[in-house]
Amino acid sequence: MNYSDSERVVAVLENAGYTEAKTPEETDLFIFNTCSIRQKGEDRVFGTLKRIAGLKNANPRLLIGITGCMVRKTSSRNSTKKDKDDLLRSFKSLDFVFKINDAQHLPTVLTEAEPNLELEIGDTDTQTANEQDEYLRITPKYTSPIQAFVPIQIGCDKFCTYCIVPYARGREKSRSMQDILNECRKLVESGCKEINLVGQTVNSYGLSQADKKNPGFGYYHNIKSGAKPTAPFIKLLQELNALSELGLSRLRYSSPHPRDFTDELIQAHAKLKVLCPHLHLPLQSADNTILERMNRKYTYEDFSEIIHKFRKALPQAAVTTDIIVGFSGETESQFEKNIQAFKDLDWDQAYISRYSERTGTVASKCFPDDISREEKSRRWHKMNDFMKKHSLKKNREYIGKTLELLVENFNQETGEAEGRSRENKVTQFPGNKDQIGTTVLVEITDALEWVLKGQTKS
Ligand code: 5AD
Ligand code: SF4
Repeated sequence: MNYSDSERVVAVLENAGYTEAKTPEETDLFIFNTCSIRQKGEDRVFGTLKRIAGLKNANPRLLIGITGCMVRKTSSRNSTKKDKDDLLRSFKSLDFVFKINDAQHLPTVLTEAEPNLELEIGDTDTQTANEQDEYLRITPKYTSPIQAFVPIQIGCDKFCTYCIVPYARGREKSRSMQDILNECRKLVESGCKEINLVGQTVNSYGLSQADKKNPGFGYYHNIKSGAKPTAPFIKLLQELNALSELGLSRLRYSSPHPRDFTDELIQAHAKLKVLCPHLHLPLQSADNTILERMNRKYTYEDFSEIIHKFRKALPQAAVTTDIIVGFSGETESQFEKNIQAFKDLDWDQAYISRYSERTGTVASKCFPDDISREEKSRRWHKMNDFMKKHSLKKNREYIGKTLELLVENFNQETGEAEGRSRENKVTQFPGNKDQIGTTVLVEITDALEWVLKGQTKS
């Protein structure tokens, strides 16, 4: 999501007349797009900010700003408003901050911070409607010509007790299906092969409290009797599947929530040919008491049933997850259940994080952060060591198989090209730079923990 947001910020800056700088020394504007999910991310921003601030001595024109989850109020150092964001008070070298959904107004914020700036206040700054998701209308400066992240919703209504996102990103609201389809069609017409739909809980697309009041999703919510029509997320996937005729070959989404993961979605995976055989479904903990305390609203048994059904429908699919270790009160045996789940559910990989208490969340108020830093670290390493062995075993199952890769990079030094399979397996093979953006068939000859190795099929 942040990656995609940054692409929109870049588009606004280019419209205002900025061009990309090549070195920190020649840079006149730094914007940090921040993530508050863990303290570590915030610490990294503060550390980098301090280093960058030193550049102001040599370049008095330099402006530094922050956006993303760390920002609560759009404001600049010169603002006459009383309620400036706390970040401006804490960091004297910071010139401005803006909420990401104010991205279209960035040129105005910049000229407030530095009145001598002569910026082109273009189309992107003329929006008057202050809809929370208005900024998604900005056409992004896509980083890659073949792959794109497309946001389909903003915010989150799930309120997992450990998570800052509902506070940082606000209430869940889905983007109009027409806007998404328009963006995707344009992408495909200009050569994009792979689209990744992004949002906090993508499979609740069109289902949030805000969406219920939106006439665009009314067909789903206002039905009086009988079976529900096709869920909005499935409808969106079906519409996007039709773009295969224009050249779209892969559709992915991240991340779904287990609570809204329906049989209908599994059937869509089996039916829709652009949908990739990869499921990233965050579990967070394999212990039901911990899941309840996290307010995840499903049990481990519910979760494993989804995985079993999904695997039955798509035996070739890769399955990955997110796990948090060291959440409040987690005992050794509760932690060990995560390792057992790894074996039982046979995940390809997991993103493991150590619980990081976030101020303002329910967990920070109600559940003590009582697992020491050392113990969280020990659990993380134990789980990670197990995962490395398991992922290697899973990757070895691909040896001898042929995978279809969309080539993303070429490394001049090693002579290897790198691409991703439909299962989302990163694979390297002897290739050339002309293969970037094309689809190649590669026979897998070797497997490492994070990457497969192969040879193109002649
Ligand atoms: N501490 C540690 N990990 C967290 N995540 C979200 N909030 C926290 C937190 N406070 C993890 C979850 C989520 C992923 C994006 O980040 O596993 O799925
Ligand atoms: Fe955070 Fe839970 Fe929402 Fe995911 S579903 S963004 S973990 S509150």
